[in-house]
Amino acid sequence: MQLFPTEIFPSQHSDTKIVEEIDNTIKYLEETGDWSDSSYLSPYALQETLHGTHAKQHLLQMFKKHPMPNLESFLGEAIEKYVGSQKLPVPDSASAYIEPLRGSWTISQSWINVVGKGKSQQRHTHAGHQVSGVYYHRTTPEMGGILFYNPNPYAKMCMFGTEEGIYFDPTPESVILFPSWLEHATEKNNTDLSRYSIAFNVHLN
Ligand SMILES: [Fe+2]
Repeated sequence: MQLFPTEIFPSQHSDTKIVEEIDNTIKYLEETGDWSDSSYLSPYALQETLHGTHAKQHLLQMFKKHPMPNLESFLGEAIEKYVGSQKLPVPDSASAYIEPLRGSWTISQSWINVVGKGKSQQRHTHAGHQVSGVYYHRTTPEMGGILFYNPNPYAKMCMFGTEEGIYFDPTPESVILFPSWLEHATEKNNTDLSRYSIAFNVHLN
């Protein structure tokens, strides 16, 4: 039995249509220079995100402005499984009876991260949201992956079962879903190429 587990959900595909879809979107963004749905260190990123306030985050609507149906379908299947795997306490029960969390959800924000050479992303949460995710496009391990920090403050004692953080390489054609409160950061991009990832927040209705 795990009393207070933190569950994340990685998922990978092998659908070339999704890769082409994202390639085409990035090409369009590069040609038009419209990076209004990019975040953090990306060109014209919202400074509110950079400085951690998350104000104006609702303006980031990548999927609404640049629909990518194949990618969105893949993400939707992963979200459905992840959300369905979570359990909630039943309010009227006497003790720890729990039941699966069911219900509808929507991707409430979505944006593209374009991280250049030598850049990284500082430790942060996705404040005000419930489920978040990041999808990696044409990435290599040298581009820097994601580091999740242990939410248990006693992890710093390094005594027993208390890793301070767990690192994941940026596996291409894959998404990682995680609770929005889970602090994370990205490692430095050590290549000359930009690292592209698509991030999003999910609202449970
Ligand atoms: Fe993030």
